[in-house]
Amino acid sequence: MIRLIYISTARTTLDSETMAAILATSRRNNQAVDVTGLLLVGGRRFLQVLEGPEEAVMQTYERIRRDDRHYAAVVLSRRAIEMRSFAGWAMGYQPAGTVHGDGEVADDVAAMIAPIGDAVTQAYFAEFARKHAAAAY
Ligand SMILES: Cc1cc2nc3c(=O)[nH]c(=O)nc-3n(C[C@H](O)[C@H](O)[C@H](O)COP(=O)(O)O)c2cc1C
Repeated sequence: MIRLIYISTARTTLDSETMAAILATSRRNNQAVDVTGLLLVGGRRFLQVLEGPEEAVMQTYERIRRDDRHYAAVVLSRRAIEMRSFAGWAMGYQPAGTVHGDGEVADDVAAMIAPIGDAVTQAYFAEFARKHAAAAY
């Protein structure tokens, strides 16, 4: 298995219906090929983790990368893994602009990523949350 992490930028801010459609498609497709992961959205920036069998992850990533709704995809990390960080999540989702109760976005994300054993993945998420949380207020 591999874990691939990339960032990209939406062409325009995607509305909640578009995001819901992307997530529904992602969950359906990813489940079918045993890919799990998480999608973070902060303003127009995406950070996504895809993990699973190498061929399935790379095919999924290639398809996502060609999607006109975003551009400038940059792979931050791609490595072999023994265990998934997002087992059971066909595609988790955290819009950085969503504030639960009085919590800060960064805290929400911190709680979400707490179970992740991989330090590099943790660091990318924490940094992304820190950068984009401010823009959400
Ligand atoms: C930021 C972003 C993340 C996406 N993530 C996934 C994903 O994890 N899995 C997936 O199948 N499609 C994902 N998509 C959608 C794909 O680009 C593509 O539209 C979709 O896979 C086509 O599926 P379909 O042929 O079943 O309609 C994503 C799109 C965007 C813009």
